[in-house]
This record gives sequence, structure tokens and C-alpha cells, in this order.
Amino acid sequence: MGDINVGLEGIVVGETAISNVEGAVGQLSYRGYDVAELVDRPFLQVVWLLVFGEMPSAGEEQQLAHFLLAHRELSPAECDMLAAIPGATHPMLVLQSMVPVLDLSQRAELDIPFGNEDALHGLIIAARLPSVVAAWFNRQQGRPWPVRSSSIEPQRAFLKSLHGRRPTAADVAALDRAQILQMEHSYNAGTFAGRVALSTRAPIQSSIAASIGTLFGALHGGADEAALEFAESVGGPDNASAAVHRELAAGGRIMGMGHREYQTVDPRATLLKPLARSLCQTHPASAALLDTLEAIELACGEQLEKPGKPQIRANVEFYKGVVFHALGIPSHFFTALFTMARVYGYIAHAVEFRPDARLIRPRAVYCGNPVGDDRAAQS
Ligand code: COA
Repeated sequence: MGDINVGLEGIVVGETAISNVEGAVGQLSYRGYDVAELVDRPFLQVVWLLVFGEMPSAGEEQQLAHFLLAHRELSPAECDMLAAIPGATHPMLVLQSMVPVLDLSQRAELDIPFGNEDALHGLIIAARLPSVVAAWFNRQQGRPWPVRSSSIEPQRAFLKSLHGRRPTAADVAALDRAQILQMEHSYNAGTFAGRVALSTRAPIQSSIAASIGTLFGALHGGADEAALEFAESVGGPDNASAAVHRELAAGGRIMGMGHREYQTVDPRATLLKPLARSLCQTHPASAALLDTLEAIELACGEQLEKPGKPQIRANVEFYKGVVFHALGIPSHFFTALFTMARVYGYIAHAVEFRPDARLIRPRAVYCGNPVGDDRAAQS
């Protein structure tokens, strides 16, 4: 393919005021706020900031909380559709299938500052996603579903409907933080796919479904599931070096390591590692996995180093899995939880991009048979 930049590395295809990935210095900010600061803010404050561009007043934050609560519950028709999906289907395929057919009727008011239909419909989808995930989880566990929770706090309600018991404040806070860290990341593959859909004037449901399908892949969001499963297969920190060696010698990649944009550290990984460590104090079953992950990271540092090439370090997916593991979430649900957070980034991009959208339609160099070659004469 010669000089063609198939992966679009370094190609600028637009502007955004939503988030800034400063790969050279390892910094990520949403709307001009460093994520290292935002991670300690209330979840819905960050949602509002991301979608509407400014910090909300206390009243606006409350309104958003009520809006999301009012739109959380699955309708009977949505439950019927979920029930019709084969039970072994991966949660990401379930989400991608369900988003375009969710009922978007408005059940409560929200005074959207710079808003439009994309913000409204996007937030209804965002409100409903945790219910789809929890319903699918319970269905796969053979438990009754849907499970309702009246809590106005999204993460508390989600954990309650997942496990059927009240989560601890520490668990809710850990999930809030992990979700804030993965809410938005500029023109990542999933967001870009969504923008391509928007550029054709497709509705936001189609755009979010395109993003979800793209997020599923193991080189993107799906790395969270793969990274933890690799750590589980390694079996313990003492085996890490040999396991990394075997994986690399077989031409494999260590999932959760490396990033297209960060030439230095991924700031989200830096924030997630101590979060995982602190959570593991109350979830000892996950602590062994964390030790293994740390040993894998160390082995990667030694074995992935190549002269003249940027160092390959842990990305957001690497330590996030152990946080989810501690919260009792099986690895094949990790990317679905990622979607529950990233959907707010997708909405922000729809609100930003729609007014000036131009059809995204790149070109390819044709390398097939020329018109009128011998095959035509033979047929
Ligand atoms: N394990 C092993 N080697 C890796 C690696 C990893 N996780 N990530 C990158 N590399 C190596 C590649 O083999 C390649 O080596 P080479 O130059 O000798 O051929 C070099 O680093 C560059 O990789 P490339 O795939 O061209 O870079 P990229 O910018 O496309 O990579 C990722 C970005 C994310 C696709 C890549 O780091 C990766 O596959 N990581 C694992 C999946 C993952 O964690 N994804 C989540 C990202 S948030």
C-alpha cells in the first residue's frame, strides 16, 4: 500500500472543543479542565460539562439527575426486544442492536442550554444504557430482570440493579471515577465512526450504534476485557515475564499496553492504578490480579523497549479491568460499562458536529483489474 496512511496517523480531520489529548506531555482535559481534577467531581457535573461545555449550576445538575432517572426504565416493548435476542450474545452486540430501537419519547423536561434534538435523544439513550446492560447481565446470570432501583445516582442505581444489593459508598465512588476517566477522548476510532454517520445526516441513534460497534474491537475499547483475561490466564506475578515473552514471541500483543496518541504516559492509567490499589484493599480477591498486572507492566517495560521507538506503556484499559473486577463485573461486560460512560462523549460530538457537518467521504487508490482487460474478452 506504499505511502498510503491507512490508519490516518497524525492526519487532522477536524476541530473539537470537547477534549484535548496532549500525547507528548501525557495530559487529557475535557473543556479545558484536566481530568486529574475532574475525576474528583460529581459524575453528573462532568457529564453536563462535557455535553454542554460549561460547569452546571446546582439546579442544572439536579435537573439532569431527574431527567436521567425518568428515562432509565426499560419499556415493556424494549424488554420484549431484549428477550428475543439469543442469550449468549455479547453485551456489546446487544447494545449496538438495541440503541437504534430504543423508545425516545420524552418522559421529563430538561432545560438544555445550547441544546437540540441530538442532546435530548442522546441523553435518553444514555439514561437507558445502564438498564440494558443490567438487564442483560441478570438475564445471562439466569436471574429475574429487569431489576429497578430508585436511586437518583446513576452508578449506585446501576450497581444495585446488577447485584441486587446496596453497593458501598467506596464502590460507587470508584465506579464514578473510572467512568469519568473514560467519558471522552477526542477523535478516537469510535467517536470518529459516529461522526462519519452524523456527516451523512443519520440520526444520533445510528451514530451511537456505529460508535458502539467500533468501540467493541480489541484494539479499542475491547482491550479492557482482553487485558484482564490475559492477566487471569497468566496466573500470578511470578509467571508474568515468561507469559509476556511467549505472547510476543508468538506475534501477539499485550492488550492494555500502548497508545496511538500518548508518546508518554496515558494519564488515565496513572489515575486508575492507585484507584485500583485502594479498591483492592476491600476486595482482596482482586488484589492478586492487580499484582499480576503490575508484573506484566514491568515485563512489558523490559521486553517491549526498542531503540529509537517510543516506550509502550499501560493505557486506560490496563488497570480499569481490575477496578471492574473488584466491583463484581465479569470481563465480557467491561466494554459495555465503557460504553455507558463514552456515550456522553458521543453526544457531545453530535451536538458539536451536527451544525457544520460536511459529508466525510475519503478516497481510495484503485488497485484492481483495469476496465477492458482480458477477462472481459473471455466471458
Ligand atoms: N503489545 C506489543 N507490541 C505493541 C503493542 C502492544 N500492546 N502496542 C504497540 N506495539 C508495537 C507494535 O508491534 C509495533 O512494533 P513494530 O514497529 O516493531 O512493528 C509498534 O509497537 C507500533 O505499533 P502500531 O500498531 O503501529 O502502533 P499504533 O499506533 O497503531 O498502536 C494500538 C496503537 C493501541 C493499536 C497498539 O498499541 C495496540 O495494539 N495496543 C493493544 C490494544 C490496546 O490496548 N488498545 C487500547 C488502546 S486505548
